[in-house]
Amino acid sequence: MSESTQPPWWKGATIYQIYPRSFADSNGDGIGDLNGVLRHLDHLQHLGVDALWLSPIFRSPMADAGYDISDYCDIDPLFGSLEDIDRLIAEAHARGMRLLLDFVPNHTSDQHPWFVESRSSRDNPKRDWYIWRDEPNNWRAALNAGSAWSWDEHTQQYYLHLFLPEQPDLNWRNPQVVEAMHDVLRFWLDRGIDGFRVDVIHCTGKEPSFADDPRCLAGQPLVEFNDQPYSHEVLRGLRRLVDSYPGERVLVGEVNIRSTERVLQYYGASDELHMSFNFQPLDAPWEPVMFRTCIRDVETLLKPADAWPTWVLSNHDNHRQRSRYHGSLRSAQAAAVLLLTLRGTPFIFQGEELGLEDALITPETQVDPGGRDGCRAPIPWLAAPPHGWEGDEPWLPFPPESDELAAERQRHAPGSTLELYRRLIEARKRSPALLHGDWEELPSHPNVLAYRRQLGEDQRVVCLNFADEPHAFPINGHWRIEIASDAQGEDETYAGELAAGQALILSPEEH
Ligand code: NOJ
Ligand code: CA
Repeated sequence: MSESTQPPWWKGATIYQIYPRSFADSNGDGIGDLNGVLRHLDHLQHLGVDALWLSPIFRSPMADAGYDISDYCDIDPLFGSLEDIDRLIAEAHARGMRLLLDFVPNHTSDQHPWFVESRSSRDNPKRDWYIWRDEPNNWRAALNAGSAWSWDEHTQQYYLHLFLPEQPDLNWRNPQVVEAMHDVLRFWLDRGIDGFRVDVIHCTGKEPSFADDPRCLAGQPLVEFNDQPYSHEVLRGLRRLVDSYPGERVLVGEVNIRSTERVLQYYGASDELHMSFNFQPLDAPWEPVMFRTCIRDVETLLKPADAWPTWVLSNHDNHRQRSRYHGSLRSAQAAAVLLLTLRGTPFIFQGEELGLEDALITPETQVDPGGRDGCRAPIPWLAAPPHGWEGDEPWLPFPPESDELAAERQRHAPGSTLELYRRLIEARKRSPALLHGDWEELPSHPNVLAYRRQLGEDQRVVCLNFADEPHAFPINGHWRIEIASDAQGEDETYAGELAAGQALILSPEEH
């Protein structure tokens, strides 16, 4: 980074993902909504996050919890109204927080008027807005949906859906589709939205010959590897549009391919995504080899000037980090230190800052066809049941320990996970090295991961002990413990040893 140019806001931001159905309910129907978000902005401001990303809030029949959209330019009544989102935009901005929405370009709902028209007859002007074929190929859909093709009895052809049959894929090679979807972005950008998380952007381009893919034979859904040049063209169009607006609006893309190298391609020549999720840590157990490899990959591959990394440990599609780490709160807290001190923009998934685990889902309480309910459980705000969810029972059960881990209990409680996240975010903000500095790995025992972040004079050392026993990690110079994942020894001189499972941020001791 050169001294003279101010980095864009999103490079120094901590971004918080809200899954609106489960965040907070304002009207007692057991489903979270926009006014629920509005009521809890204090929590987010206290936490110190800079931007919020809302999972889809648009009109939807909810076959895929809102990722099946029937009107991109209206709010689903479950979540509120356009007035509510306007109020939320204004209030978030007044508190210095930006607001990102989820943009779902690959598919609509089968109830979207475009698809209703498209399927009405073979010569309907919108027929070609979706992908119709006489014969299916072997492509498989995600979410346990089997073939990616469904038969339309009325017009006697198959349509393509890379997810549920209720989510037909748009045909982005049709310029009218491109224009219509650009209009959607304009609609929200004009309303003051600061950017978008772009759903499965790598899927918008399809292999033009529609040839069978051997990987689908092995049972893998196409979305896990679809990676076509045309997706990049789609993306360049979105980027040009977003960049034509003032105020550094941002595109964060979901490229759900577990290869950092492939993911990197979606930054283009600074003309595609501003940031791409890199999902490898979502599969990584809490163990040093995986993280070391994944971080080194990012550091070598995402070095080019503008390919700014992102870090994600949890989201609405995967088991929460604590659940993946066998329920260990200690590991989840150490992982928080990692998340908030690597080079790149961290994303926190709602409830991660409370140290929540997945809720236990039984066949009776399962809602999602993809089996992803556990991480989507409602947020416990208050310690006493119903944890701030008065009225109808919430749509999913609460996570374990909802009394202990409720936000109210953890606020201002020394040693709580919420306090740890809040202080980590604060520590980032006061350190240019943590926000924008270089990353350099330090030699250490295989069970310890250690690195230095540095920008000019400012530096921090971060060290994490993955083992169940204490580990020596000596470093030259005099260091003070700025933050400890277990809140032990803070503000004391660092003595060259990490406690079992502990993660530390060290800052140079002042004389
Ligand atoms: C990725 C989203 O994160 C997931 O929740 C959704 O089911 C699919 N894309 C389809 O939109
Ligand atoms: Ca509600």
